[in-house]
Amino acid sequence: MAQLENKKLNLFLADLAVLNIKVHTIHWNVIGATFKDVHELTDDFYHILQNQYDEFAELMKAHRIFPMGAMAEYVDATNIAEIEGRDYPVYEALEILETDLVKLIATAKDVREEMLKTDTFQFSNILEDYVVIYEKYLWFVRAMRNENNA
Ligand SMILES: [Fe+2]
Repeated sequence: MAQLENKKLNLFLADLAVLNIKVHTIHWNVIGATFKDVHELTDDFYHILQNQYDEFAELMKAHRIFPMGAMAEYVDATNIAEIEGRDYPVYEALEILETDLVKLIATAKDVREEMLKTDTFQFSNILEDYVVIYEKYLWFVRAMRNENNA
């Protein structure tokens, strides 16, 4: 597989790896009256990210592509900004989640486009499935943000 495609697949894998940790950080540190809603939403979401991280890397292996293995490589490749461990009020936690879901959807669509060019449907199909899930979570987060801002 061409170099650009390998790079794009690893970029998406890096997003999953870094976002998994970031969503955990929010899961642990969110504070406020609706703490439990965000705590539970992020619990569901990081399990999805973890499963996709493994599934996507295994699909890469099935196509003889090495998934990046080091956290430093993921941080270097990803567009997702890391966050520190501190208190995150609900409004800020939801804002972060919305921003990153938008980014993740954009990256997934971009990588899907690239894979369509070479008819690597195994990747484009799975990315389409992922985008459906991310858009559902984006809806949840936006609905919760409206409630939070009311
Ligand atoms: Fe937990």
